[in-house]
Amino acid sequence: MDDRVRVGLVGLGRMGRFHAANLAGRIPLADLVRIVDADEGVARDLSEGLRGVEWSTNYADLLEDSEIEAIVIASPTPLHADMIEAAAEAGKHVFCEKPISLDIERTYEAIEAARAAGVKLQVGFHRRFDPDYRRAWQKIAADEVGEVYLFRTSLRDMQAPGFDYIKGSGGFFADVTLHDFDTARWLIGEIEEVTALGAALSDPGFEEVGDIDNAVVTVRFAGGALGVIDNSRVAGYGYECSSEVMGSRATLRVDNHRRASVETLTPDSSHQDYVSDFVERFADAYAAGLESFARAVREDRDPEVSGADAAAAFVLAKAAERSHREGRAVRLTNEMKDGEVFYEEVD
Ligand SMILES: NC(=O)c1ccc[n+]([C@@H]2O[C@H](COP(=O)([O-])OP(=O)(O)OC[C@H]3O[C@@H](n4cnc5c(N)ncnc54)[C@H](O)[C@@H]3O)[C@@H](O)[C@H]2O)c1
Repeated sequence: MDDRVRVGLVGLGRMGRFHAANLAGRIPLADLVRIVDADEGVARDLSEGLRGVEWSTNYADLLEDSEIEAIVIASPTPLHADMIEAAAEAGKHVFCEKPISLDIERTYEAIEAARAAGVKLQVGFHRRFDPDYRRAWQKIAADEVGEVYLFRTSLRDMQAPGFDYIKGSGGFFADVTLHDFDTARWLIGEIEEVTALGAALSDPGFEEVGDIDNAVVTVRFAGGALGVIDNSRVAGYGYECSSEVMGSRATLRVDNHRRASVETLTPDSSHQDYVSDFVERFADAYAAGLESFARAVREDRDPEVSGADAAAAFVLAKAAERSHREGRAVRLTNEMKDGEVFYEEVD
């Protein structure tokens, strides 16, 4: 019997196209049944590239298709919460791209809708499925690092997405730094203080839409360790995602990836090819995240990244935004309820 999870996908832009290619061929436990995008040409063209998978322009077609067990949401962020709630009501499991919403109350409502309907909800924090980051996580869990003193991470895009995307993204911290807050919590632990500096440097358009393109964030973890996050939308030389955890027994480094392990040496230079974007750097991680989601559905277990994890990273991102705007440190508190963490700003 075919045990694959029958999946529908909505939103076929930068991220959705990549999820479609993965779901159509790289995820043994998933079967891509139908794709939807509001843009008819986009949906039709992608369907042709996927050997004729069913397509349409209406999200309701996924909800009404009784074949479909799970929906992958890669539409623009402002649509996520409504789409999660509609999927939950239709009894479909959900993999949703980050963030769940640009509003924390809507985030919690969407999480509650999934919980009440008894459907799985996994959020797209792909770094948790990257082999290198997982190795680092395992080493920390095995206490090979000892007491953690410092955490350092860089996330830099080679070039910025268009301003149409940026306007609906929720702002730099909720769109970019969110990933680093999730990594920081996952690797090191909960965070109790955030300070952020941000600037719009590469293009006056960022300031015109009230956003920034570079930021430095410092954090204090509840366990005492300190952390530094640097982010950019405009690194120019390539896409970088690298991290370091310095502890009493060992230091872990997840280095910036190269396109290939080849270095070209000439008398006055050495040359390496950097990867150009997140899809190239994290190709395996995106596939592994979807595979893990399909496995959670089929084995009826909790997904590895929960809605509460997404909410926690969002609250931390909003704290960073407040710190940047108000020029001060923002302190946070968190509590565990039913095994899930809930963050709040203290002041
Ligand atoms: N995990 C990651 O690394 C990562 C990276 C990039 C983007 N994202 C997230 O993925 C989501 C999508 O980002 P993107 O860069 O792919 O955006 P995008 O603008 O490239 O694509 C969005 C797609 O959704 C379609 N769409 C819009 N309204 C729709 C509707 N009502 N019904 C169906 N389709 C609709 C658009 O036509 C477009 O094709 C965002 O939430 C973003 O935060 C995650």
